[in-house]
Amino acid sequence: MQDTNLLTVEGLEQSFGGVMALAGVSFHTPENLIYAIIGPNGAGKTTLFNVLCGFYQPASGSLRFNGQELRGRPPHRIAALGIARTFQNLQLFFNMTVLENVMVGGHLRAKTGLLAAALRLPQVRHEEQQLREWAREALELCELTDHAEHPAGALPYGLMKRVEMARALAAKPRLLLLDEPAAGLNDTETMALRDLIQRIRASGVTVLLVEHHMPLVMSVSDRLLVLDYGSVLAEGTPAEIQANPRVIAAYLGGAVQYAI
Ligand SMILES: Nc1ncnc2c1ncn2[C@@H]1O[C@H](COP(=O)(O)OP(=O)(O)OP(=O)(O)O)[C@@H](O)[C@H]1O
Ligand SMILES: [Mg+2]
Repeated sequence: MQDTNLLTVEGLEQSFGGVMALAGVSFHTPENLIYAIIGPNGAGKTTLFNVLCGFYQPASGSLRFNGQELRGRPPHRIAALGIARTFQNLQLFFNMTVLENVMVGGHLRAKTGLLAAALRLPQVRHEEQQLREWAREALELCELTDHAEHPAGALPYGLMKRVEMARALAAKPRLLLLDEPAAGLNDTETMALRDLIQRIRASGVTVLLVEHHMPLVMSVSDRLLVLDYGSVLAEGTPAEIQANPRVIAAYLGGAVQYAI
């Protein structure tokens, strides 16, 4: 039978020395979903993103994206297939403008080589124009247009995190991986983030969301995967996950408020 999911992960294993960071993880994500991955610290969430992006080569398992196997491909090839990410720790060029930072994302898609760039061939100018246009679109979606010419390092923290998201979007991904986008944000910024994630999905991008902020996760996601010690503890809708006794015992606890 043909696999209609955008992402299908099967039996994924990744270990670091004696630590099994991913101990046989399987799940699948249809296109155009907001799919959250939650679990306690050290559960393997960031490791899963790193494997998906080709930063680590897993010991076993398979990762199919849009019908193509990702395992064995280097990060730039995976990016070119349409997967972009943000990082748990902010990774911006503080002295560059917001627009320049965001244009870096589009360069992952650039086709012309160094020689063509050095010679300023016409296709380079055309490509530069294209990158600028994609960056402008991403800034618009992230409501950062007014800050385009400001140095990224001068922005408040919440906006810097948005610049990272805009940079990932400027690569025109089909799948966007967000690693703790709400960390360090206040309540107002977190609500704005929820709206932004919904706009990103509405623009046709599937979102994998790693996040500890439960009110955000439970209100924005269509489905959730719960990891614990590198294994899948549960998978389901927000209502199913909130009612799952194993998830409550391992992660959610009894007194979690889900309203945002
Ligand atoms: N490069 C590495 N070298 C050695 N151990 C690692 C490495 N990366 C992750 N680990 C270990 O793998 C396990 C999973 O870590 P990971 O960063 O994926 O957790 P996480 O679910 O993202 O946690 P958090 O919510 O704290 O970000 C942990 O035990 C961690 O110490
Ligand atoms: Mg992490």
